[in-house]
Amino acid sequence: MPLIKTLRRLFTMFSIKKILTMGGLCLFVLLGMAAIKAPTQKLRNLKVLPKDISDAKLDSIMHTYNKALGVNCEFCHVKPRFNLGNKDSLDYFSDAEPMKENARKMMEMTISLNKTYFYFNKDVQPAYLTTITCKTCHQGEPFPPED
Ligand code: HEC
Ligand code: HEC
Repeated sequence: MPLIKTLRRLFTMFSIKKILTMGGLCLFVLLGMAAIKAPTQKLRNLKVLPKDISDAKLDSIMHTYNKALGVNCEFCHVKPRFNLGNKDSLDYFSDAEPMKENARKMMEMTISLNKTYFYFNKDVQPAYLTTITCKTCHQGEPFPPED
């Protein structure tokens, strides 16, 4: 039994305490490596848009909202409560601005209109369809006029 022989030799060479310490050390290093590798995807607060959206796509969609409604990002996003550094930065993750939830309903409606009433390219994710867009109705106004 070569395994038992090797183990016995190891036990005589190192004390059990040493082996345990070394084992603990190895585990510590492995856990450390796992912790460094784990968080690759950004923590995002997305309920309508696809979770795997790229930064560029997200940014371009948000800019279309500004244009279509004739507003700034602050219309739907609040300023952070504690602002270190950049004074103009907004807390995009936060849902504290009620207009953001209104906008989510509008996004769902727009997706549904595109999917339900128009022929659409099945390769495109429904959230990215643009037959009907915010601009179709809003035309640069946050509250489109009734007539
Ligand atoms: C009409 C409202 C509206 C406007 C204007 C708007 N946003 Fe948003 N934004 C939203 C909504 C709603 C979400 C969340 C979407 C979801 O839940 O899928 C969001 C999400 C985001 C996120 C992702 C936040 C996260 O959780 O990681 C970023 C970043 C963002 N917006 C940036 C911007 C920027 C930059 C502008 C201005 C150029 C802007 N937004 C203008 C409504 C708006
Ligand atoms: C089919 C037409 C239509 C489309 C498409 C549309 N909206 Fe609207 N939206 C409206 C109308 C009409 C109002 C005004 C409701 C009112 O005056 O009470 C409105 C109001 C809003 C408001 C004000 C809050 C509220 O709920 O009244 C926000 C924010 C908004 N829309 C965002 C968007 C965004 C973002 C998109 C694109 C994702 C979008 N809308 C697409 C018709 C539309």
